Amino acid sequence: MPDLSWPGAWRGEVSGAAVTVGDVDEVAGPLPDPNPVDLADAGRRGGEELRLFLRRRALLRALVARRLGLAVEAIVVGYDARGAPVLRQPRTAQTRGRSEPRLFISLSARGRLAAFALAQEPVGIDLEPLVDPGPLAAALTSAERAAVAAVPEDARPAMVLRYWTAKEAYLKALGTGLRRDPALVGIAAGSDESFTVRDGGRPNAERRGAARQGHWLWPTVRGSPLVVALFHGDR
Ligand SMILES: CC(C)(COP(=O)(O)OP(=O)(O)OC[C@H]1O[C@@H](n2cnc3c(N)ncnc32)[C@H](O)[C@@H]1OP(=O)(O)O)[C@@H](O)C(=O)NCCC(=O)NCCS
Repeated sequence: MPDLSWPGAWRGEVSGAAVTVGDVDEVAGPLPDPNPVDLADAGRRGGEELRLFLRRRALLRALVARRLGLAVEAIVVGYDARGAPVLRQPRTAQTRGRSEPRLFISLSARGRLAAFALAQEPVGIDLEPLVDPGPLAAALTSAERAAVAAVPEDARPAMVLRYWTAKEAYLKALGTGLRRDPALVGIAAGSDESFTVRDGGRPNAERRGAARQGHWLWPTVRGSPLVVALFHGDR
């Protein structure tokens, strides 16, 4: 089982999901070498993009190994047909004729910063630096735009980023990513940095219970304030 000491990383258990956010170059100790699936998934990436991809993949495998109490060599991560990361090995016993992964995984990255989530149900995570959100505001619903307009101007960028990260986290948990239009997904902020999603008129929290709520986290890593949204969903 890997040691994985990671100075400066933010770690937390958020409604059953293990969340880690950090600078991938600040992990102390060795990470596993890439396996053939990692190298195949790297595709045509080159240079720094390739280095960061392989480092994230190694970290993801190490985090899964630690969570499951297994050697990192036993962990194989790949992609499903839509590009969502999945745990390929180990799998549980057959359930209703299907082999289910033991853990659901999600990740998000900006340069050297990365956020990882592991959970026993479909999960999505998204990370954005707390800077000017630029064109992301175009993905807001009219209700979200009105909520942004109602807060003081200096609070608006963070509010746009909250909505955007929540939509992306939800769409990752769903497994579609941005193939679905984020402007069609409504986010309602609750208390305690929680949120619910209204998709197709069905509030998920009512449909599936409060565990399907999302949560915003506000870690600071390497001096950079970040907004991270985590969502537990269904596929
Ligand atoms: C998934 C997606 C939302 C990521 O957006 P992003 O802000 O650029 O990147 P993030 O760092 O937050 O997330 C990237 C991670 O999302 C994950 N991801 C990719 N597709 C996913 C999907 N369909 N569902 C869940 N997670 C997905 C991957 O693990 C990826 O990390 P990796 O490449 O290191 O493995 C976006 O790339 C997407 O929707 N892709 C699928 C559809 C597509 O290819 N459309 C063309 C471009 S819009």
